[in-house]
Amino acid sequence: MNVEGSGHPDLGDVLVSEQQLRDRVAVLGKEITRDYEGRDLLMVGILKGAFIFMADLAREIAVPVEFDFMAVSSYGSSTKSSGVVRIVKDLDADVTDRHVLLVEDIVDTGLTLNYLRKNLLARGPASLEICALLVRRDVDREEARVRYTGFDIGDDFVVGYGLDAGQRHRGLPYVAAYRGPA
Ligand code: IMP
Ligand code: MG
Repeated sequence: MNVEGSGHPDLGDVLVSEQQLRDRVAVLGKEITRDYEGRDLLMVGILKGAFIFMADLAREIAVPVEFDFMAVSSYGSSTKSSGVVRIVKDLDADVTDRHVLLVEDIVDTGLTLNYLRKNLLARGPASLEICALLVRRDVDREEARVRYTGFDIGDDFVVGYGLDAGQRHRGLPYVAAYRGPA
């Protein structure tokens, strides 16, 4: 597919191309492999947005990995985070004494991750780190505690590579700005 865009009227510029995604995911996989050498990893994907990123990332990690998923729903409108998060699907795994890597699609305000971090830390994991495909440029990195970042991104609402607008466009192989109806 042409990375200049799909021609879909709802889509604006391609902000992260397929090639950029592939290259960056490979680098992240190497970093994670190095950092978790000798340890078993439990990757926890936040549904639904993280599913494509996590699937690609998992194939670039060379230490033993188990997978689990959580689904959360944020109260309030779909394009704006309220910080109040409800766990719609909890983990199957007991994370006590496990090395947990939380995988998220995008850190926008950071409120969702902040909530999940606290929630998971209360369960006594051996370690807990965060990997996010996209992080808004104005997010305070110290506060968000994101250990692995794919790409810094501006204020555009984006879709593709797992991210949606009203459940659409998740399957795009790149990340594009969204220009359609909110
Ligand atoms: P936060 O709690 O404000 O960090 O919101 C994070 C969540 O908002 C993400 O997991 C996404 O589900 C959603 N989100 C924020 N920005 C975008 C975007 O540009 N496209 C798609 N989803 C987004
Ligand atoms: Mg999400």
